[in-house]
Amino acid sequence: MTHSLRIPDLTIPARPAPARPAGVGPGDAGDPAVNDVDVIRVAGGARLTGTVHVVGAKNSALKLMAAALLAPGRSVITNVPRITDIAIMGEVLRRLGCEVRFDPDDPVDPMVARGGTARSRSVTIDVPGRPGAEADYDLVRRLRASICVLGPLLARRGYVRVAHPGGDAIGSRGLDMHVSGLTRMGADISGEHGFVIAAAPDGLHGADIVLDFPSVGATENLVMAAVLARGATVIDNAAREPEIVDICSMLIRMGARIEGEGTSTLHIEGVPELRPVRHATVGDRIVAGTWAFAAAMTRGDVTVTGIDPGYLEVALDKLVCAGGLVETSGDAFRVRMDARPRAVDVVTLPYPGFATDLLPMAIGLAAVSDGASLITENIFDGRFMFANEMMRLGADIKTDGHHAVVRGRERLSGAPVRATDIRAGAGLIIGGLCAEGVTEVSHVHHVDRGYPDLVADLRALGVAVERGSVPDGPALDI
Ligand code: EPU
Repeated sequence: MTHSLRIPDLTIPARPAPARPAGVGPGDAGDPAVNDVDVIRVAGGARLTGTVHVVGAKNSALKLMAAALLAPGRSVITNVPRITDIAIMGEVLRRLGCEVRFDPDDPVDPMVARGGTARSRSVTIDVPGRPGAEADYDLVRRLRASICVLGPLLARRGYVRVAHPGGDAIGSRGLDMHVSGLTRMGADISGEHGFVIAAAPDGLHGADIVLDFPSVGATENLVMAAVLARGATVIDNAAREPEIVDICSMLIRMGARIEGEGTSTLHIEGVPELRPVRHATVGDRIVAGTWAFAAAMTRGDVTVTGIDPGYLEVALDKLVCAGGLVETSGDAFRVRMDARPRAVDVVTLPYPGFATDLLPMAIGLAAVSDGASLITENIFDGRFMFANEMMRLGADIKTDGHHAVVRGRERLSGAPVRATDIRAGAGLIIGGLCAEGVTEVSHVHHVDRGYPDLVADLRALGVAVERGSVPDGPALDI
Protein backbone atom coordinates (compact mmCIF):
# COMPACT_ATOMS: atom_id res chain seq x y z
CA MET A 1 0.00 0.00 0.00
CA THR A 2 1.25 3.51 -0.74
CA HIS A 3 0.73 6.57 1.42
CA SER A 4 -0.52 9.28 -0.88
CA LEU A 5 -0.37 12.55 0.98
CA ARG A 6 -2.20 15.79 0.41
CA ILE A 7 -0.32 18.10 2.74
CA PRO A 8 -2.84 20.01 4.85
CA ASP A 9 -2.27 23.53 6.07
CA LEU A 10 -0.20 23.25 9.25
CA THR A 11 0.17 26.99 9.80
CA ILE A 12 -0.04 28.00 13.43
CA PRO A 13 -1.59 31.48 13.41
CA ALA A 14 0.33 34.25 15.16
CA ARG A 15 -1.70 35.43 18.14
CA PRO A 16 -2.65 39.08 18.48
CA ALA A 17 -0.94 40.72 21.47
CA PRO A 18 -3.37 40.52 24.40
CA ALA A 19 -4.85 43.75 25.68
CA ARG A 20 -3.36 44.33 29.12
CA PRO A 21 -4.63 46.54 31.89
CA ALA A 22 -2.17 49.33 32.73
CA GLY A 23 0.72 48.08 34.87
CA VAL A 24 0.34 44.42 33.92
CA GLY A 25 3.31 43.14 31.96
CA PRO A 26 4.04 39.84 30.28
CA GLY A 27 4.23 37.03 32.81
CA ASP A 28 2.24 38.90 35.46
CA ALA A 29 -0.81 37.26 36.99
CA GLY A 30 -3.80 37.72 34.71
CA ASP A 31 -1.71 37.82 31.52
CA PRO A 32 -3.23 35.24 29.18
CA ALA A 33 0.16 34.90 27.44
CA VAL A 34 1.50 32.95 30.44
CA ASN A 35 -0.81 30.14 29.36
CA ASP A 36 0.73 29.74 25.91
CA VAL A 37 2.17 26.33 25.13
CA ASP A 38 4.50 25.17 22.41
CA VAL A 39 3.00 22.75 19.90
CA ILE A 40 4.23 20.67 16.99
CA ARG A 41 1.82 19.90 14.17
CA VAL A 42 2.46 17.02 11.80
CA ALA A 43 0.63 15.87 8.73
CA GLY A 44 -0.30 12.20 8.78
CA GLY A 45 0.48 9.75 6.02
CA ALA A 46 4.18 10.54 5.91
CA ARG A 47 6.78 8.02 4.80
CA LEU A 48 10.16 8.75 6.40
CA THR A 49 13.09 8.42 4.02
CA GLY A 50 16.70 9.55 4.20
CA THR A 51 19.56 9.73 6.68
CA VAL A 52 19.57 11.16 10.17
CA HIS A 53 22.62 11.63 12.39
CA VAL A 54 22.35 11.04 16.12
CA VAL A 55 24.49 13.13 18.50
CA GLY A 56 25.59 12.30 22.06
CA ALA A 57 23.23 10.74 24.60
CA LYS A 58 21.44 13.03 27.05
CA ASN A 59 21.59 10.38 29.74
CA SER A 60 25.34 10.07 29.35
CA ALA A 61 26.31 13.72 28.87
CA LEU A 62 24.44 14.78 32.03
CA LYS A 63 26.41 12.33 34.13
CA LEU A 64 29.72 13.09 32.38
CA MET A 65 29.20 16.73 33.33
CA ALA A 66 28.64 15.67 36.96
CA ALA A 67 31.73 13.43 36.81
CA ALA A 68 33.82 16.48 35.86
CA LEU A 69 33.21 17.68 39.45
CA LEU A 70 35.52 14.90 40.64
CA ALA A 71 38.69 16.66 39.44
CA PRO A 72 39.69 20.30 39.88
CA GLY A 73 40.67 21.97 36.62
CA ARG A 74 39.31 22.03 33.08
CA SER A 75 37.39 19.10 31.61
CA VAL A 76 35.92 19.22 28.11
CA ILE A 77 33.03 17.01 27.01
CA THR A 78 32.22 16.88 23.32
CA ASN A 79 29.23 15.60 21.32
CA VAL A 80 26.91 16.99 24.01
CA PRO A 81 23.32 17.32 22.73
CA ARG A 82 21.87 20.81 22.49
CA ILE A 83 18.81 20.26 24.68
CA THR A 84 17.18 21.91 27.68
CA ASP A 85 18.34 19.31 30.22
CA ILE A 86 21.99 19.95 29.39
CA ALA A 87 21.50 23.71 29.77
CA ILE A 88 19.96 23.10 33.22
CA MET A 89 22.86 20.84 34.20
CA GLY A 90 25.23 23.64 33.11
CA GLU A 91 23.38 25.94 35.52
CA VAL A 92 23.59 23.37 38.34
CA LEU A 93 27.37 23.27 37.88
CA ARG A 94 27.65 27.07 37.72
CA ARG A 95 25.84 27.34 41.05
CA LEU A 96 28.39 24.89 42.44
CA GLY A 97 31.12 27.37 41.51
CA CYS A 98 32.17 25.91 38.14
CA GLU A 99 32.70 28.00 35.01
CA VAL A 100 30.73 26.37 32.22
CA ARG A 101 31.03 27.29 28.55
CA PHE A 102 29.29 25.83 25.51
CA ASP A 103 31.17 25.98 22.19
CA PRO A 104 30.64 24.71 18.66
CA ASP A 105 31.45 21.05 18.53
CA ASP A 106 34.16 19.11 16.81
CA PRO A 107 33.74 17.04 14.75
CA VAL A 108 31.03 19.08 13.11
CA ASP A 109 27.49 17.70 13.22
CA PRO A 110 26.47 16.78 9.63
CA MET A 111 23.34 18.89 10.12
CA VAL A 112 25.59 22.00 10.32
CA ALA A 113 27.45 20.89 7.21
CA ARG A 114 24.05 20.94 5.42
CA GLY A 115 23.37 24.49 6.64
CA GLY A 116 21.19 23.49 9.60
CA THR A 117 21.40 24.30 13.29
CA ALA A 118 24.00 22.54 15.43
CA ARG A 119 22.47 19.79 17.54
CA SER A 120 25.61 19.07 19.52
CA ARG A 121 28.15 21.22 21.30
CA SER A 122 31.18 20.80 23.46
CA VAL A 123 31.06 21.91 27.06
CA THR A 124 34.09 23.19 28.92
CA ILE A 125 33.83 22.92 32.69
CA ASP A 126 36.35 24.65 34.96
CA VAL A 127 35.97 23.01 38.36
CA PRO A 128 37.24 24.93 41.42
CA GLY A 129 39.45 23.40 44.12
CA ARG A 130 36.50 23.52 46.51
CA PRO A 131 33.14 23.25 44.69
CA GLY A 132 29.89 24.25 46.39
CA ALA A 133 27.76 21.56 48.02
CA GLU A 134 24.13 22.57 47.38
CA ALA A 135 21.68 21.99 44.53
CA ASP A 136 18.40 23.83 44.99
CA TYR A 137 14.87 22.75 44.19
CA ASP A 138 14.35 25.38 41.48
CA LEU A 139 16.83 23.47 39.28
CA VAL A 140 16.40 19.92 40.59
CA ARG A 141 12.62 20.01 40.00
CA ARG A 142 13.37 20.82 36.34
CA LEU A 143 16.10 18.21 36.04
CA ARG A 144 15.65 15.12 38.15
CA ALA A 145 19.07 13.91 36.99
CA SER A 146 20.66 16.70 39.11
CA ILE A 147 20.67 14.04 41.84
CA CYS A 148 23.80 12.67 40.12
CA VAL A 149 25.88 15.41 41.78
CA LEU A 150 25.27 13.63 45.10
CA GLY A 151 28.04 11.03 44.66
CA PRO A 152 30.78 13.29 43.26
CA LEU A 153 30.17 16.11 45.75
CA LEU A 154 30.07 13.76 48.70
CA ALA A 155 33.38 12.31 47.50
CA ARG A 156 34.98 15.73 47.04
CA ARG A 157 33.44 17.74 49.87
CA GLY A 158 32.32 15.21 52.47
CA TYR A 159 29.00 17.06 52.60
CA VAL A 160 26.18 17.69 50.16
CA ARG A 161 22.63 19.06 50.26
CA VAL A 162 20.55 18.31 47.15
CA ALA A 163 16.83 18.99 46.78
CA HIS A 164 14.80 15.77 46.68
CA PRO A 165 13.67 15.42 43.05
CA GLY A 166 10.30 13.78 43.83
CA GLY A 167 8.40 11.65 41.31
CA ASP A 168 7.35 12.62 37.82
CA ALA A 169 5.00 11.77 34.97
CA ILE A 170 6.50 8.32 34.39
CA GLY A 171 6.44 7.11 37.97
CA SER A 172 7.39 7.33 41.63
CA ARG A 173 11.20 7.17 41.17
CA GLY A 174 12.78 6.22 44.51
CA LEU A 175 16.25 7.06 45.86
CA ASP A 176 16.57 4.24 48.41
CA MET A 177 19.38 2.44 46.54
CA HIS A 178 21.42 5.66 46.23
CA VAL A 179 20.95 6.23 49.96
CA SER A 180 21.67 2.70 51.17
CA GLY A 181 24.77 2.37 48.96
CA LEU A 182 26.27 5.67 50.12
CA THR A 183 25.40 4.79 53.72
CA ARG A 184 27.40 1.56 53.40
CA MET A 185 30.30 3.70 52.22
CA GLY A 186 30.18 5.66 55.48
CA ALA A 187 27.83 8.53 54.67
CA ASP A 188 25.23 9.74 57.12
CA ILE A 189 22.13 10.61 55.10
CA SER A 190 19.00 12.40 56.24
CA GLY A 191 16.06 14.22 54.70
CA GLU A 192 14.98 17.67 55.79
CA HIS A 193 12.72 20.37 54.31
CA GLY A 194 12.68 18.66 50.93
CA PHE A 195 16.46 18.13 50.78
CA VAL A 196 18.62 15.02 50.85
CA ILE A 197 21.55 15.82 53.15
CA ALA A 198 24.59 13.56 53.11
CA ALA A 199 27.68 13.93 55.28
CA ALA A 200 30.90 11.94 55.49
CA PRO A 201 33.21 14.19 57.54
CA ASP A 202 35.92 11.50 57.72
CA GLY A 203 35.62 10.67 54.01
CA LEU A 204 33.98 7.69 52.30
CA HIS A 205 35.32 4.16 52.48
CA GLY A 206 34.97 1.23 50.11
CA ALA A 207 32.10 -1.22 50.64
CA ASP A 208 30.42 -4.31 49.21
CA ILE A 209 27.10 -3.21 47.79
CA VAL A 210 24.38 -5.35 46.23
CA LEU A 211 21.71 -3.35 44.45
CA ASP A 212 18.11 -4.64 44.72
CA PHE A 213 17.65 -3.66 41.08
CA PRO A 214 20.20 -2.53 38.44
CA SER A 215 19.34 1.15 38.86
CA VAL A 216 21.11 3.41 36.37
CA GLY A 217 21.17 6.46 38.65
CA ALA A 218 22.21 4.55 41.78
CA THR A 219 25.02 2.77 39.92
CA GLU A 220 26.31 6.11 38.60
CA ASN A 221 26.18 7.88 41.97
CA LEU A 222 27.88 4.98 43.72
CA VAL A 223 30.64 4.67 41.11
CA MET A 224 31.32 8.41 41.27
CA ALA A 225 31.51 8.23 45.07
CA ALA A 226 33.66 5.07 45.10
CA VAL A 227 36.38 6.31 42.75
CA LEU A 228 37.67 8.69 45.47
CA ALA A 229 36.76 6.56 48.51
CA ARG A 230 39.38 4.82 50.68
CA GLY A 231 39.79 1.18 49.64
CA ALA A 232 37.83 -1.17 47.41
CA THR A 233 34.14 -1.08 46.48
CA VAL A 234 32.25 -3.87 44.76
CA ILE A 235 28.85 -3.04 43.26
CA ASP A 236 26.84 -6.16 42.45
CA ASN A 237 23.73 -6.18 40.25
CA ALA A 238 25.05 -2.94 38.75
CA ALA A 239 23.39 -1.36 35.70
CA ARG A 240 25.07 -2.26 32.37
CA GLU A 241 23.77 0.51 30.08
CA PRO A 242 26.16 1.93 27.45
CA GLU A 243 25.90 5.23 29.37
CA ILE A 244 27.38 3.49 32.44
CA VAL A 245 30.25 2.19 30.30
CA ASP A 246 30.73 5.73 28.94
CA ILE A 247 31.00 7.31 32.39
CA CYS A 248 33.35 4.53 33.57
CA SER A 249 35.61 5.07 30.56
CA MET A 250 35.75 8.81 31.27
CA LEU A 251 36.53 8.13 34.94
CA ILE A 252 39.27 5.63 34.01
CA ARG A 253 40.85 8.25 31.77
CA MET A 254 40.67 10.66 34.74
CA GLY A 255 42.79 8.16 36.69
CA ALA A 256 40.07 6.05 38.36
CA ARG A 257 40.59 2.31 38.86
CA ILE A 258 37.44 0.53 37.69
CA GLU A 259 36.98 -3.00 36.35
CA GLY A 260 33.91 -4.77 35.03
CA GLU A 261 32.18 -1.86 33.29
CA GLY A 262 29.37 -3.20 31.11
CA THR A 263 28.95 -6.23 33.42
CA SER A 264 26.79 -6.67 36.53
CA THR A 265 29.76 -6.47 38.90
CA LEU A 266 31.88 -3.37 39.18
CA HIS A 267 35.17 -3.41 41.11
CA ILE A 268 36.45 0.01 42.08
CA GLU A 269 39.68 0.75 43.90
CA GLY A 270 39.61 4.28 45.31
CA VAL A 271 42.40 6.73 44.40
CA PRO A 272 43.36 9.94 46.25
CA GLU A 273 42.68 12.26 43.32
CA LEU A 274 41.63 12.43 39.69
CA ARG A 275 42.67 14.68 36.81
CA PRO A 276 40.45 16.52 34.31
CA VAL A 277 40.02 15.10 30.79
CA ARG A 278 38.53 15.60 27.36
CA HIS A 279 35.84 13.04 26.53
CA ALA A 280 33.37 12.45 23.67
CA THR A 281 29.82 11.44 24.64
CA VAL A 282 28.50 8.09 23.38
CA GLY A 283 25.70 8.32 20.77
CA ASP A 284 22.08 8.47 21.91
CA ARG A 285 20.56 5.01 21.52
CA ILE A 286 17.09 6.22 22.51
CA VAL A 287 17.00 8.95 19.85
CA ALA A 288 18.38 6.39 17.37
CA GLY A 289 15.72 3.88 18.44
CA THR A 290 13.02 6.52 18.02
CA TRP A 291 14.05 6.93 14.36
CA ALA A 292 14.17 3.16 13.88
CA PHE A 293 10.57 2.79 15.07
CA ALA A 294 9.45 5.87 13.14
CA ALA A 295 10.88 4.33 9.96
CA ALA A 296 9.04 1.06 10.58
CA MET A 297 5.74 2.70 11.54
CA THR A 298 5.67 4.93 8.46
CA ARG A 299 6.79 2.11 6.14
CA GLY A 300 9.84 4.21 5.38
CA ASP A 301 13.53 3.73 4.74
CA VAL A 302 15.83 5.51 7.19
CA THR A 303 19.57 5.28 7.82
CA VAL A 304 20.71 6.35 11.28
CA THR A 305 24.37 7.30 11.81
CA GLY A 306 26.38 8.14 14.95
CA ILE A 307 25.36 5.08 16.97
CA ASP A 308 26.69 1.58 17.58
CA PRO A 309 23.74 -0.60 16.45
CA GLY A 310 24.78 -3.18 19.06
CA TYR A 311 23.25 -0.88 21.69
CA LEU A 312 19.84 -1.45 20.10
CA GLU A 313 20.07 -5.16 19.44
CA VAL A 314 16.77 -6.15 21.07
CA ALA A 315 14.85 -3.17 19.66
CA LEU A 316 16.12 -3.74 16.10
CA ASP A 317 15.33 -7.44 16.41
CA LYS A 318 11.72 -6.52 17.24
CA LEU A 319 11.56 -4.53 14.01
CA VAL A 320 12.86 -7.55 12.08
CA CYS A 321 10.15 -9.72 13.72
CA ALA A 322 7.62 -7.06 12.66
CA GLY A 323 8.70 -7.54 9.03
CA GLY A 324 11.35 -4.83 8.73
CA LEU A 325 14.69 -5.10 6.95
CA VAL A 326 17.54 -4.01 9.17
CA GLU A 327 21.12 -3.56 8.01
CA THR A 328 23.89 -2.64 10.42
CA SER A 329 27.46 -1.43 10.03
CA GLY A 330 30.10 0.01 12.42
CA ASP A 331 28.32 3.12 13.64
CA ALA A 332 25.13 3.14 11.58
CA PHE A 333 22.05 1.12 10.75
CA ARG A 334 19.27 1.22 8.19
CA VAL A 335 15.61 0.27 8.78
CA ARG A 336 13.23 -0.34 5.90
CA MET A 337 9.62 -1.49 6.13
CA ASP A 338 7.75 -2.18 2.90
CA ALA A 339 4.43 -3.50 4.21
CA ARG A 340 2.19 -3.10 7.22
CA PRO A 341 4.16 -4.20 10.31
CA ARG A 342 3.20 -7.47 12.02
CA ALA A 343 2.28 -7.27 15.71
CA VAL A 344 5.10 -8.14 18.13
CA ASP A 345 5.17 -8.45 21.92
CA VAL A 346 7.58 -6.24 23.86
CA VAL A 347 8.85 -6.46 27.46
CA THR A 348 10.94 -3.61 28.86
CA LEU A 349 13.91 -4.56 31.00
CA PRO A 350 17.20 -3.04 32.17
CA TYR A 351 19.92 -3.05 29.47
CA PRO A 352 20.53 -5.15 27.41
CA GLY A 353 16.74 -5.64 27.47
CA PHE A 354 14.27 -3.50 25.55
CA ALA A 355 14.65 0.10 26.83
CA THR A 356 11.73 1.56 28.78
CA ASP A 357 12.44 4.89 27.05
CA LEU A 358 11.35 3.27 23.78
CA LEU A 359 8.06 2.01 25.24
CA PRO A 360 5.99 4.81 23.65
CA MET A 361 7.50 3.91 20.25
CA ALA A 362 6.71 0.21 20.82
CA ILE A 363 3.09 1.13 21.62
CA GLY A 364 2.99 3.34 18.53
CA LEU A 365 4.24 0.50 16.35
CA ALA A 366 1.74 -1.92 17.90
CA ALA A 367 -1.08 0.60 17.33
CA VAL A 368 -0.63 0.40 13.54
CA SER A 369 0.49 -3.24 13.26
CA ASP A 370 -1.47 -6.18 11.92
CA GLY A 371 -2.63 -8.12 14.99
CA ALA A 372 -2.51 -7.72 18.76
CA SER A 373 0.62 -7.00 20.81
CA LEU A 374 1.22 -7.51 24.50
CA ILE A 375 3.44 -4.75 25.86
CA THR A 376 4.87 -5.13 29.37
CA GLU A 377 6.56 -2.30 31.28
CA ASN A 378 8.84 -3.35 34.13
CA ILE A 379 10.77 -0.20 35.02
CA PHE A 380 8.42 2.73 35.70
CA ASP A 381 4.95 2.49 37.24
CA GLY A 382 3.56 5.51 35.37
CA ARG A 383 4.77 4.89 31.82
CA PHE A 384 1.31 3.89 30.57
CA MET A 385 -0.11 7.36 31.35
CA PHE A 386 0.92 8.11 27.81
CA ALA A 387 -1.45 5.43 26.48
CA ASN A 388 -4.45 7.70 27.14
CA GLU A 389 -3.06 10.26 24.71
CA MET A 390 -2.37 7.57 22.10
CA MET A 391 -6.01 6.53 22.46
CA ARG A 392 -7.00 10.07 21.47
CA LEU A 393 -5.26 9.26 18.18
CA GLY A 394 -7.55 6.25 17.84
CA ALA A 395 -5.15 3.60 19.15
CA ASP A 396 -6.89 0.55 20.61
CA ILE A 397 -5.08 0.04 23.93
CA LYS A 398 -6.19 -1.72 27.11
CA THR A 399 -3.89 -1.46 30.11
CA ASP A 400 -3.92 -3.64 33.18
CA GLY A 401 -1.22 -2.92 35.76
CA HIS A 402 2.09 -3.08 33.95
CA HIS A 403 0.66 -4.78 30.84
CA ALA A 404 -1.02 -3.29 27.80
CA VAL A 405 -2.80 -5.10 25.01
CA VAL A 406 -2.69 -3.10 21.79
CA ARG A 407 -4.85 -4.15 18.84
CA GLY A 408 -3.41 -2.66 15.69
CA ARG A 409 -5.39 -0.47 13.31
CA GLU A 410 -4.64 0.23 9.67
CA ARG A 411 -4.51 3.97 10.35
CA LEU A 412 -4.78 6.30 13.37
CA SER A 413 -6.77 9.51 13.37
CA GLY A 414 -5.12 12.92 13.84
CA ALA A 415 -6.11 14.82 16.99
CA PRO A 416 -4.80 17.36 19.51
CA VAL A 417 -2.79 15.49 22.17
CA ARG A 418 -0.50 16.41 25.03
CA ALA A 419 3.11 15.38 25.68
CA THR A 420 3.49 14.31 29.31
CA ASP A 421 7.20 13.47 29.21
CA ILE A 422 10.11 13.43 26.75
CA ARG A 423 9.53 10.01 25.25
CA ALA A 424 5.74 10.19 25.31
CA GLY A 425 5.99 13.44 23.35
CA ALA A 426 8.23 11.87 20.72
CA GLY A 427 5.94 8.82 20.56
CA LEU A 428 2.89 11.00 19.93
CA ILE A 429 4.62 12.96 17.18
CA ILE A 430 5.63 9.71 15.47
CA GLY A 431 2.11 8.34 16.05
CA GLY A 432 0.75 11.45 14.32
CA LEU A 433 2.74 10.54 11.21
CA CYS A 434 0.58 7.40 10.91
CA ALA A 435 -2.72 9.24 11.41
CA GLU A 436 -5.26 10.62 8.94
CA GLY A 437 -5.14 14.42 8.99
CA VAL A 438 -3.24 16.68 11.34
CA THR A 439 -1.98 15.84 14.83
CA GLU A 440 -1.11 18.68 17.16
CA VAL A 441 1.11 17.68 20.07
CA SER A 442 1.17 20.30 22.82
CA HIS A 443 3.59 20.85 25.73
CA VAL A 444 6.47 19.92 23.45
CA HIS A 445 8.92 21.59 25.82
CA HIS A 446 9.13 18.05 27.22
CA VAL A 447 10.43 16.84 23.84
CA ASP A 448 13.04 19.64 23.81
CA ARG A 449 14.49 18.07 26.96
CA GLY A 450 15.75 15.07 24.99
CA TYR A 451 15.61 15.59 21.21
CA PRO A 452 17.82 18.31 19.72
CA ASP A 453 15.86 19.99 16.90
CA LEU A 454 13.42 17.18 16.20
CA VAL A 455 11.51 19.37 13.75
CA ALA A 456 14.58 19.87 11.52
CA ASP A 457 15.27 16.14 11.54
CA LEU A 458 11.65 15.32 10.67
CA ARG A 459 11.73 17.82 7.78
CA ALA A 460 14.98 16.36 6.51
CA LEU A 461 13.26 12.95 6.43
CA GLY A 462 10.38 14.34 4.37
CA VAL A 463 7.75 15.13 7.00
CA ALA A 464 5.42 18.16 6.75
CA VAL A 465 5.79 19.65 10.22
CA GLU A 466 5.39 23.03 11.92
CA ARG A 467 6.15 24.34 15.36
CA GLY A 468 4.56 27.28 17.13
CA SER A 469 2.82 28.39 20.23
CA VAL A 470 -0.91 28.48 20.98
CA PRO A 471 -3.03 29.43 23.99
CA ASP A 472 -3.49 26.51 26.39
CA GLY A 473 -7.30 26.80 26.30
CA PRO A 474 -9.58 29.83 26.23
CA ALA A 475 -8.97 32.84 28.46
CA LEU A 476 -11.38 32.51 31.40
CA ASP A 477 -13.18 35.26 33.24
CA ILE A 478 -12.52 34.35 36.90
N1 EPU B 1 14.47 3.07 41.77
C1 EPU B 1 14.18 2.89 43.09
N2 EPU B 1 15.11 3.27 44.01
C2 EPU B 1 16.30 3.81 43.66
C3 EPU B 1 16.59 3.99 42.29
C4 EPU B 1 15.65 3.61 41.36
O1 EPU B 1 13.11 2.42 43.46
O2 EPU B 1 17.11 4.12 44.55
C5 EPU B 1 13.47 2.66 40.78
C6 EPU B 1 12.91 3.86 40.04
O3 EPU B 1 11.84 4.44 40.77
C7 EPU B 1 12.46 3.25 38.74
C8 EPU B 1 13.50 2.15 38.50
O4 EPU B 1 14.09 1.90 39.78
O5 EPU B 1 11.19 2.71 38.89
C9 EPU B 1 14.57 2.48 37.49
O6 EPU B 1 15.27 3.62 37.91
P1 EPU B 1 16.77 3.95 37.43
O7 EPU B 1 17.49 4.44 38.64
O8 EPU B 1 17.32 2.80 36.69
O9 EPU B 1 16.51 5.12 36.43
P2 EPU B 1 17.04 6.61 36.50
O10 EPU B 1 18.50 6.63 36.74
O11 EPU B 1 16.19 7.43 37.40
C10 EPU B 1 17.64 6.68 33.96
C11 EPU B 1 17.31 7.57 32.80
C12 EPU B 1 15.87 7.34 32.37
C13 EPU B 1 15.71 5.88 31.99
C14 EPU B 1 16.12 4.99 33.18
C15 EPU B 1 16.05 3.52 32.89
C16 EPU B 1 18.68 9.50 33.20
C17 EPU B 1 18.76 10.94 33.48
N3 EPU B 1 17.48 8.96 33.18
O12 EPU B 1 16.76 7.07 35.02
O13 EPU B 1 15.67 8.14 31.21
O14 EPU B 1 14.38 5.63 31.66
O15 EPU B 1 17.46 5.32 33.58
O16 EPU B 1 16.83 3.22 31.80
O17 EPU B 1 19.69 8.85 32.94
C18 EPU B 1 14.51 9.61 29.79
O18 EPU B 1 15.60 9.88 29.28
O19 EPU B 1 13.43 10.00 29.28
C19 EPU B 1 14.48 8.83 31.02
C20 EPU B 1 13.42 8.76 31.81
